[in-house]
Amino acid sequence: MTRVELEHVTKRFGKVVALDDLSLEVRKGEFFVLLGPSGCGKTTTLRIIAGLEHPDKGRVLFDEEEVTHLPPARRGVSMVFQSYAVWPHMTVYENIALPLRVRKMRDEEIDRRVREVARLMRIEDLLSRYPSQLSGGQRQRVAVARALAVTPRVLLMDEPLSNLDALLRVQARAELKKLQNETKLTTVYVTHDQVEAMVLADRVAVMNAGRVLQVGSPEEVYTKPANRFVAHFIGSPPINLFEGVVEQDGINVGFAKLPVAAGPDVLRSYIGRQVIVGVRPEDVRMTPAPNHVELVGSVWLIENLGGDYVVLVAIGDTILRVKSRERPVADKVRIYIDPKKLHIFDKESEQRLSRFDKEDL
Ligand SMILES: Nc1ncnc2c1ncn2[C@@H]1O[C@H](COP(=O)(O)OP(=O)(O)OP(=O)(O)O)[C@@H](O)[C@H]1O
Ligand SMILES: [Mg+2]
Repeated sequence: MTRVELEHVTKRFGKVVALDDLSLEVRKGEFFVLLGPSGCGKTTTLRIIAGLEHPDKGRVLFDEEEVTHLPPARRGVSMVFQSYAVWPHMTVYENIALPLRVRKMRDEEIDRRVREVARLMRIEDLLSRYPSQLSGGQRQRVAVARALAVTPRVLLMDEPLSNLDALLRVQARAELKKLQNETKLTTVYVTHDQVEAMVLADRVAVMNAGRVLQVGSPEEVYTKPANRFVAHFIGSPPINLFEGVVEQDGINVGFAKLPVAAGPDVLRSYIGRQVIVGVRPEDVRMTPAPNHVELVGSVWLIENLGGDYVVLVAIGDTILRVKSRERPVADKVRIYIDPKKLHIFDKESEQRLSRFDKEDL
């Protein structure tokens, strides 16, 4: 098991700053996910760990050893790409065996390893087939098997499931998670799909514009987003966000006055200042509850999610998303916000005001 560390890594492509003083640590045996929108630098980060790119500034460490200038072949990493890159003219067996042959391994050892990873990936019956005779999901498993055959120190995966249809994706990600649980390989996994990130990650790094905005467990980044971007990027349906002004007795968001659970004392230093208030759709209810703020609005749209509904409620000019088990019957509805569940961000810096969090008191 290997620990991976990036220290103050900057990478430019011409004028584009792909990575901007990026630091992060992947712990031994961890399933670490890089999550962020297109172009934020996920692939570049992975390629720098692999040694396929070199940073302009900063260092890459595997355990305590600096590998910044080591070529890919000497790092002991395996990478699975979005496009799988399996060789069409080789059987599945030969595809998996290829990196082992390159390493001049003995035939018996190659055979043993190929069969072992094939069993792990449940493709034993496909070893004599050619890639054109496989489904997308099977091809993807071949690519992972090939990456595992060399027993890498670090397994790198760049959106490996994005070519699969929705149902297969869900199945394949469960298999990957299970596999990593069993092998305990240090894994860095890139995706722009927040659900995938939440399901797979031990810890996730949320990235934007070449920077890491927050690193934490899926629970942490969801329940305590460090800033507005993370709050909005994670969660589906997305968090409700509105601007407000801190007043003596709560936050005035225009259509309501929201008391802050922490109490007016904490607010005092922020009085008169602008904030962004966030509340997740599941923290707004359609039935009364103690200490909730009651608001009246009208139903603007109902989205059916299968088991439950997202009700878009208009209150003046503001539309609030509410998650509900029941489909509202009337156009006019009462909704109830839990003030303890509010997320508050500074309007300027967009950083979370953690001192409004209950446990920070
Ligand atoms: N070889 C290159 N030459 C020039 N610019 C590049 C090169 N590789 C990446 N970039 C730029 O660097 C930034 C980061 O790219 P990167 O591929 O790391 O993003 P990403 O997060 O993987 O995005 P996606 O989700 O679309 O794959 C982008 O602005 C991209 O255009
Ligand atoms: Mg990419």
